[in-house]
Amino acid sequence: MIIHIKGAGDKELRPLQHIADMYDIDAEINMATKTNSEAVVTFEETRKGEYIALTATFIHTNGACLKETFQKHAPLLLSEKDIYKKAKQVRAHLFVKLLNKWTSTIQPWGTLTGIRPTKLWHSLYQDGLELAEIKEHLQNDYLVSENKAALLESIGRRQQKVLPDLYELHNGVSIYIGIPFCPTKCAYCTFPAYAINGKNGSVEAFLTGLHFEMEQIGAWLERTGVPVTTIYFGGGTPTSISAAEMDELYAKMYEVIPGIHDVREITVEAGRPDTITPAKLNVLSKWNIDRISINPQSFDNQTLKAIGRHHSVEETKEKYELSRKMGMKNINMDLIIGLPGEGTKEMEKSLEETEKLSPESVTVHTLSFKRASTMTKQKEKYKVAEKDEIEKMMEMTAAWMNSHHYHPYYLYRQKNILGNLENVGYSLEGQESLYNIIIMEEVQTIIGLGCGAASKWVDPVTKKIGRFANPKDPVSYNNRFEEYTDKKIASLDQLFKNHIDHKAVPE
Ligand SMILES: C[S@@+](CC[C@H](N)C(=O)[O-])C[C@H]1O[C@@H](n2cnc3c(N)ncnc32)[C@H](O)[C@@H]1O
Ligand code: SF4
Repeated sequence: MIIHIKGAGDKELRPLQHIADMYDIDAEINMATKTNSEAVVTFEETRKGEYIALTATFIHTNGACLKETFQKHAPLLLSEKDIYKKAKQVRAHLFVKLLNKWTSTIQPWGTLTGIRPTKLWHSLYQDGLELAEIKEHLQNDYLVSENKAALLESIGRRQQKVLPDLYELHNGVSIYIGIPFCPTKCAYCTFPAYAINGKNGSVEAFLTGLHFEMEQIGAWLERTGVPVTTIYFGGGTPTSISAAEMDELYAKMYEVIPGIHDVREITVEAGRPDTITPAKLNVLSKWNIDRISINPQSFDNQTLKAIGRHHSVEETKEKYELSRKMGMKNINMDLIIGLPGEGTKEMEKSLEETEKLSPESVTVHTLSFKRASTMTKQKEKYKVAEKDEIEKMMEMTAAWMNSHHYHPYYLYRQKNILGNLENVGYSLEGQESLYNIIIMEEVQTIIGLGCGAASKWVDPVTKKIGRFANPKDPVSYNNRFEEYTDKKIASLDQLFKNHIDHKAVPE
């Protein structure tokens, strides 16, 4: 359906399109009159003293006519730019209300698209709002449901408890190390995941580049004295390289990262059970790494086969027990809601099996159809549950977590996620992953090393966010890792300029 918008700025085309995309109406938003528009939405703005009031009408060619109004406090002293920002928020608010009415549905996240809900919660908290005021603001202005507003509060509070210095971490950094290899590619995945024995650039050349990056960044940390808070090995599957290669990599990390013994957390994703071996677990233990992920995704063999995981439920359990026996103290498990062919029955089974294993944390993803994934390209082959069932699975999972003492502690949303829902990380008391909180809340710079590693620059003074991405494929990485390292160091120098200048001043 083509919806023609009148009375909004051109810059609002994309946000309004993102809102329309949350509904099952296949909408195309346009700002220029098109003769084939099926509906016209008109915004009218008036100022009433200290308030701006907006009215939105939706008129469909079938004769339907809907109307909504909303006003927002806008002190007279506000700049033009700030008034426009407020009016834009109100237009998004009214658009959601109109589409809720038109489709007889309610969007649990209201107008929140392209923004991290927990980040918004923290920014309102730091603005000095009381908890009740934050909730009210989220529900009234952003149309977030009561349940989701409560979820944000419990996550925000937990993050503050787990990281008491959450709002002061910007003077340090965390390090992400991307290992882009996997035994096979899963049908839903678009992460850098190249066949470990494939022709996409040799593992050896990749590790040479990674060692080089680590040395250079280690030297920068040494020179500047910037402290490292957490280190995270992700991918891909970091345990798809050999035990000897893992050993050399961790040896290098201990050799070159200053203050490594004070780093608060080191995590290695061992996601695919089929990569875990006693030799690799020995290497992890040797380097005092006892936080890993072992990801079942599902506890149904048929599903695992359909999504191309090439490991069985039995292997997940066996490798989990082995990891426990060999000293892994903090094990996370990823589950995905809404995998093809799965409904509440399969979810119930996954939760029952999770209970038997008793991991320290569980990250519950909702399936997202990523544009470049095999699953999206061959969508007709992968039948997934309807929205109502997805919501039921999400609700039963949240209830299960609650009754089993797992607290939600981080949350993020993705595009094209089933039911327009979210991914939530749950954890037993005190077992949360600090890195997951740091990356989601963007509270400090993350230096990304290796393939597909995205560096995130958080300016310690302005808190402005910048990004830098290493290439996803090993061939490009292997050819140009030196250049990428130089660029990162130049950005880091710029970012921590004050810190470095300060350090240079003699006592
Ligand atoms: C970067 S992946 C790596 C994990 C590890 N290689 C594995 O497969 O177990 C992290 C997690 O994201 C989730 N994930 C990846 N693609 C997804 C998708 N399209 N929809 C929902 N969750 C997804 C999976 O649960 C996966 O464990
Ligand atoms: S989900 Fe994990 S194992 Fe599967 S392809 Fe992606 S990164 Fe590799």
